[in-house]
Amino acid sequence: MGLKWKSDKHINIIVVIFGVLGLMAEVCNGGITSNYVRNDDLGRDMPLDSDVFRVPPGYNAPQQVHITQGDHVGKGVIVSWITPDEPGSSTVVYWAENSEVKHSAQGIILTYKYFNYTSGFIHHCTIHNLEFDTKYYYEVGIGNTTRQFWFTTPPSVGPDVPYTFGVIGDLGQTHDSNRTLTHYELNPAKGQTVLFVGDLSYADDYPFHDNARWDTWGRFVERNAAYQPWITTVGNHEIDFAPHLNETKPFKPYTNRYHVPYKAAHSTSPLWYSIKRASAYIIVLSSYSAYGKYTPQYKWLEKELPKVNRTETPWLIVIMHCPLYSSYVHHYMEGETMRVMYEKWLVEHKVDVVFSGHVHAYERSERVSNIAYNIVNGLCNPISDQSAPVYITIGDGGNLEGLVTEMTEPQPSYSAYREASFGHGIFDIKNRTHAYFSWHRNQDGYAVEADSLWFHNRYWKRFQESSVAAL
Ligand SMILES: *[C@@H]1O[C@H](CO)[C@@H](O)[C@H](O)[C@H]1NC(C)=O
Ligand SMILES: *[C@@H]1O[C@H](CO)[C@@H](O)[C@H](O)[C@H]1NC(C)=O
Ligand SMILES: *[C@@H]1O[C@H](CO)[C@@H](O)[C@H](O)[C@H]1NC(C)=O
Ligand SMILES: *[C@@H]1O[C@H](CO)[C@@H](O)[C@H](O)[C@H]1NC(C)=O
Ligand SMILES: *[C@@H]1O[C@H](CO)[C@@H](O)[C@H](O)[C@H]1NC(C)=O
Ligand SMILES: *[C@@H]1O[C@H](CO)[C@@H](O)[C@H](O)[C@H]1NC(C)=O
Ligand SMILES: [Fe+2]
Repeated sequence: MGLKWKSDKHINIIVVIFGVLGLMAEVCNGGITSNYVRNDDLGRDMPLDSDVFRVPPGYNAPQQVHITQGDHVGKGVIVSWITPDEPGSSTVVYWAENSEVKHSAQGIILTYKYFNYTSGFIHHCTIHNLEFDTKYYYEVGIGNTTRQFWFTTPPSVGPDVPYTFGVIGDLGQTHDSNRTLTHYELNPAKGQTVLFVGDLSYADDYPFHDNARWDTWGRFVERNAAYQPWITTVGNHEIDFAPHLNETKPFKPYTNRYHVPYKAAHSTSPLWYSIKRASAYIIVLSSYSAYGKYTPQYKWLEKELPKVNRTETPWLIVIMHCPLYSSYVHHYMEGETMRVMYEKWLVEHKVDVVFSGHVHAYERSERVSNIAYNIVNGLCNPISDQSAPVYITIGDGGNLEGLVTEMTEPQPSYSAYREASFGHGIFDIKNRTHAYFSWHRNQDGYAVEADSLWFHNRYWKRFQESSVAAL
């Protein structure tokens, strides 16, 4: 109540412009609630015989090939794939684009059972000591059916290294999911790495948590995930906790299928970790692991945040599944307990942006914080805070559960823009002071931005502003 926004005027001007253009935006107490009218053929799964689920031909051909960063700085890559018929070779053969010299790295093989499902042979191979900023070809399936892919390593970590991240969440395997992935692939901004904010396959929505749906999902996303790293976060659909099926070990399918470089980040769990990539420091948190005081995740994050050197990596990005600020009715306040624990740190360490999923819609917050409350002082409203991150909810990848459309009314002051449409985001880092975020809804052309914001780095902004003031 009684919140006064410096940007009121600005928002009103935008609203006037939108109104004039007939875009039907509507303002309440807060920002913009878009009335964009979208197609209604939502939530239908792609049929099992779809092209995207096709098993690659050949005896024991590797499938579901995907890569992620394999060390803390970007000179390593973890290559993962599954062979169906026999274990086969776990070797990755790789070579730099301009080199004749072939190298090889040896991986490991895992299998797991889930209720009455038995996985294929899951391979994970970490390649170390690659050159920065170099295109590499790689082959898997050595000795049986060999398949070839490629990836490009990021530039060396440094403050002014431009780099483009895609942001996708809650993807699933429907026609909408395929549209989201296609739009990401064809976006002229050319994302180089995907920040995936949780809820991958939605296998747990099928009878008996049908783990064959993890396999179809792995085949579906291979066309992108084999060529650029997906930095994954766990969502509630990764928990796969099903006591009625005697499956009581949380995250069993996910942790067998998706390996991450958590040890390089001195984490004790693959569910929370960090990486540096170009000019960004990315902290991945688990909304579904203990995060209270004294817990492993709390202790790790407490030590991790002060380690970030903004002279080296100006952009501090946090990804987690459950949003801390969302104004949709569905999942309202589910992130509240984690907000109470961690928001103070996010502000203190001037995190630039927090990306989350979970809510199947899009929303961008103002820079706000709500950390003054101490039970008795009554200070329980979010206030405008320039040290606070922007919170972006982007759980709109397009899964079988469909969109959530019901919003709390009036739109709260912390909410800058909200819209229930499927889409993806691009976080395009230009240099240490500027990054450009855009959100792209699936119904538009590939280059259309439905929402966008220039980010001014929270750490370097101070210096920039003082140098301007000194002139
Ligand atoms: C998924 O999208 C790709 C790329 O646009 C397209 O080639 C493919 O046919 C689509 N598949 C389905 C089942 O929609
Ligand atoms: C697992 O059990 C369910 C229920 O009995 C059955 O429908 C399904 O076909 C079984 N799957 C496998 C792989 O045996
Ligand atoms: C498949 O590859 C494995 C390991 O490289 C090898 O031992 C096996 O003989 C191969 N199988 C066939 C049918 O070629
Ligand atoms: C779970 O395990 C118990 C004890 O082994 C067994 O009696 C029960 O049938 C199992 N339930 C299922 C769904 O497999
Ligand atoms: C932070 O990074 C810069 C650039 O790499 C380096 O010169 C500086 O020593 C680092 N600071 C600390 C405290 O490690
Ligand atoms: C950083 O990027 C922004 C946006 O492209 C540009 O306006 C600005 O001049 C750049 N700053 C430097 C120091 O190059
Ligand atoms: Fe979720």
